[in-house]
Amino acid sequence: MSNTILVGAQWGDEGKGKIIDFLTERADLVVRSQGGNNAGHTVLVGGKKYVLHLIPSGILRAGKMCVIGNGVVIDPIAVAKEIDGLLAEKVKVSPKNLMISDCAHLVFPYHRAIDEQRELAKGKGKIGTTKRGIGPAYGDKAARVGVRIGDLIEPEVFAAKLKVRIKENNAVLKAFGAKPLNYAKVLAEYQAAARKLAPFVANTVVYLHEALKSGKKILFEGAQGTFLDIDHGTYPYVTSSNTTAGGACTGSGVPPHRMDSVLGVMKAYTTRVGEGPFPTENEQISDMLHGLGREFGATTGRARRCGWFDAVATRFAGMVNGIDEIAVTNLDGLDTLPKIKVCVAYKLGKKRLEVPPSDSALLAQCVPIYEDHDGWVTPTEKCKKWSDLPAKARAYLKRIAELSGGKLTIASVGPNRDQTILV
Ligand code: GDP
Ligand code: IMO
Ligand code: MG
Repeated sequence: MSNTILVGAQWGDEGKGKIIDFLTERADLVVRSQGGNNAGHTVLVGGKKYVLHLIPSGILRAGKMCVIGNGVVIDPIAVAKEIDGLLAEKVKVSPKNLMISDCAHLVFPYHRAIDEQRELAKGKGKIGTTKRGIGPAYGDKAARVGVRIGDLIEPEVFAAKLKVRIKENNAVLKAFGAKPLNYAKVLAEYQAAARKLAPFVANTVVYLHEALKSGKKILFEGAQGTFLDIDHGTYPYVTSSNTTAGGACTGSGVPPHRMDSVLGVMKAYTTRVGEGPFPTENEQISDMLHGLGREFGATTGRARRCGWFDAVATRFAGMVNGIDEIAVTNLDGLDTLPKIKVCVAYKLGKKRLEVPPSDSALLAQCVPIYEDHDGWVTPTEKCKKWSDLPAKARAYLKRIAELSGGKLTIASVGPNRDQTILV
């Protein structure tokens, strides 16, 4: 495997964690470059379920180096807990297989409080965030008032910076009518996390360049999905980082010409958690999948909104990410349906659109134009190779890859490692 950027081609939760875990076997390093603990990546290994939020999903394979890059925003208490949780499950986590960028920005309790207050103030117009403080943390980074991991491990620097930040943010919280934060309490909690995390902190840019020089293969683990991208997504119903392929470069310090391929992960249908336009949303599919106990958020537990596969969306994802290879997950989710729809274009007023409009209000008015497919109505979860799949399932997969403009290389028929078909 060459250096590969793996991105979500829809609204997140495409099954990136499962595919990363599968591909890590052939990589040397796995790098997270954006997002924070708003992400929830599920991996099943030997019947055991792991949900990773900040730590790259590659951690579950021995001997692989995992890097949390400069573009990630880190809640140090959450990441320390995540490390402890993995250790308790007998997963090895040490500076030998996990490194955290000194330039990654920190998430503080005031970010979470402001995230929550802004959502409350928006009322019906809320984004439906994960309330992990992601937007306010990236906001501080852009406003150049953020505090970084490198500061956290310098006790005096950190104490001074935190004091200023708490003072300013308590004034903001007061304006919202929310409870102010206690400086001493936050300081003590963050100092404790700093002591745990200090051994993992490094200049990851230099480390990654050395790895490249020695011919190591890097897998970039995208978080969220294309339509949650701060620039290319359904703004303002997005997250606050670049979830598209370019984010892997800026968020890690690995330059574009060292990237060899982009793998887009997409579900065989579409899901979205949180508010915002979703043209192919469908109540029957939602009910069917929820009835099977599927499609509940890995981070917040919220029921995901579900709908038909939207090839207008994935076509655009192919464009902005430069997707050359496609992994389709959750094919088995459609196993019981006699008829399956695929959205091939939108109708907006009298116009036919092949790509989504940039304006979320216009996207909300788009009516899907569907193409009908016969379902295979056969369980696929035990299929091990391409030829095991029912002919109608193969035709469906080929068609959605063709409409999305990439080459189908992986089909997934269950959450486990061995439920992965190389095409
Ligand atoms: P991520 O955020 O993109 O890593 O995806 P999540 O882990 O949040 O959500 C994907 C869900 O689908 C998880 O519960 C996975 O275990 C599950 N999953 C992934 N691929 C498949 C598949 O092919 N079939 C089934 N049944 N579940 C899958
Ligand atoms: P993974 O990596 C799905 C959504 C939230 C909300 C919007 C903004 O597991 O695919 P935020 O808390 O980031 O400010 O919320 O983005 N969201 C996700 N949806 N999967 C994710 O991550 C998400 N991370 C954020 O639900 O709509
Ligand atoms: Mg997820």
